[in-house]
Amino acid sequence: MERSAPGEVRMSQAVQPAHANPRGELSAGQLLKWIDATACLAAERHAGVSCVTASVDDIQFEETARVGQVITIKAKVTRAFSTSMEISIKVIVQDMFTGIEKLVSVAFSTFVAKPVGEEKIHLKPVTLLTEQDHVEHNLASERRKVRLHHEDTFKNLMKENSNFDDPICDEEEGMVLTSGTSVQSIELVLPPHANHHGSTFGGQIMAWMETVATISASRLCRAHPLLKSVDMFKFRGPSAVGDRLVFNAIVNNTFQTCVEVGVRVEAFDCQEWSTGRGRHINSAFLIYNAVNDEEELVTFPRIKPVSKDDFRRYRGALARKRIRLGRKYVISHKEEVPLRVQWDISNQVALSNANVEALNSLAARSGWEVTSAVGKVGGIQIKIYALEEHDILSVWVEKHVERPAHVTYHLLSDFTKRPSWDPHYVSCEVIDWVSEADQIYYITCPVVNGDKPKDLVVLVSRRRPLKDGGTYTVAMKSVIVPSVPPSPQYIRSEIICAGFLIHAIDSSSCTVTIPESWERVPHQAPRSAESLLFLLPLPATPPACALSLPVK
Ligand code: COA
Ligand code: ADP
Repeated sequence: MERSAPGEVRMSQAVQPAHANPRGELSAGQLLKWIDATACLAAERHAGVSCVTASVDDIQFEETARVGQVITIKAKVTRAFSTSMEISIKVIVQDMFTGIEKLVSVAFSTFVAKPVGEEKIHLKPVTLLTEQDHVEHNLASERRKVRLHHEDTFKNLMKENSNFDDPICDEEEGMVLTSGTSVQSIELVLPPHANHHGSTFGGQIMAWMETVATISASRLCRAHPLLKSVDMFKFRGPSAVGDRLVFNAIVNNTFQTCVEVGVRVEAFDCQEWSTGRGRHINSAFLIYNAVNDEEELVTFPRIKPVSKDDFRRYRGALARKRIRLGRKYVISHKEEVPLRVQWDISNQVALSNANVEALNSLAARSGWEVTSAVGKVGGIQIKIYALEEHDILSVWVEKHVERPAHVTYHLLSDFTKRPSWDPHYVSCEVIDWVSEADQIYYITCPVVNGDKPKDLVVLVSRRRPLKDGGTYTVAMKSVIVPSVPPSPQYIRSEIICAGFLIHAIDSSSCTVTIPESWERVPHQAPRSAESLLFLLPLPATPPACALSLPVK
């Protein structure tokens, strides 16, 4: 393993049986404790005073470590703001016999400097030595925006989700109630759980949360659950030695092979304990899967929410899933891939066919997962699916339409009408009517979160079915057209593949499926975190009014 970089703090631990679960794998709670301790030491080295965990961004666990293997955690301050700092954390597992190293996790947490007394500290800037330090420093402010807007983003999505009628409109065999997964546990904070000021270590709280969440998940799985990720969370307030911490956990929702468990922590000092009124210090949401004896992923039954709380948590889990999918684009920063292709009239047929082909193969891909319940919007049945592959997020919405397929196709393939029904479009003009089958459009989108609006140049390729009963296709993808270069007023956005597939059901109705796929945005494009969150809204489904426009 290479030498540590300046400013980096490292912890190495040999995984012992006492750190492991019954499968001999390192318990995620223990790992969270080590992660938090290493990050805290990196923060304190920079701050020169005691620091507390303010929040932890989404953590994904890619590998499991086993007893006998060695865990190395590297933590480094990427950026100091005023009183807070972002710490990047990298966890590696090494097998002692083979020497092979694997990445377990990359995480980011925020620590706040808490000097003794009331006085606030202003942190010194981080010294940036390498190109990577500069990249991380820039990305840190993007991640901070996402973090600080997290609660608002969640609330907005919950509001949007409330447009859905009850998610469970169809009773399915084998649906389960969550009441049997409820767990309550208590811990007394003792000196070994706290720093020298008596504040409880964030990692200790995370480890206790993980223990109760794992018990809750196992009540649904009836197997040993494996923690895959923890959702971004915030330590809302401190707790200290002598506090009693009460943990309540329950399964909120399932997503085929994943289950989300939520944990709420309340702290009580001696007086609060006697009155029963505690302080809500944290809520976290943990995602598990489970494997059977053949090491295959277990498919979980769908949840049947019953009470008002069940419904709120069920919808909350859906909203968090959508946020997680969108957030990948801010956090990941791998090599850039060219997304747009140069528009070239001499290559029109190939580009047009590739456009249509891409949409059809996106729709045919396996692994689509229902993200939002089969539900109704404004009384119309819709289904929403998502597919995550590497850096690409695809969303698919399916809608039943009471109009003949050929009429629906005619209306939806005319993009100039789209601003009248799609809130993501402000304007849409034809810049090149290449042929009856292919047009190039310039699209502008609305301002989101006070950021610059985005614009797009897309090739729209449409096809009628070759025989009756076939699928009508309207495919779109971004293209580069030299006459419409990016302008400073807009953020040029890119769509890998989107469009409509229209299947006739009978002579008067059809199904419209709307798959869309986006790539993470390249570095050089000056996009902020908020504009990336614009990726979160689902593709708009054409409302009834759009589908009853007069046909030309
Ligand atoms: N994620 C990251 N940083 C956050 C945050 C979040 N969710 N919420 C607040 N912060 C940052 C602010 O941006 C600010 O940073 P800056 O000074 O660099 O601009 C800093 O925290 C202080 O914010 P402020 O608004 O003054 O304080 P607050 O009332 O929001 O309190 C904490 C923030 C973290 C200090 C407070 O919630 C706390 O004490 N939490 C418990 C911390 C703890 O004890 N953890 C260990 C486990 S209990
Ligand atoms: P919300 O209930 O809106 O999700 P909370 O912060 O109150 O938000 O709770 C976080 C999570 O903790 C819940 O989603 C749920 O999974 C779990 N939880 C909260 N209260 C209880 C409880 N009384 N019993 C079991 N689990 C609970």
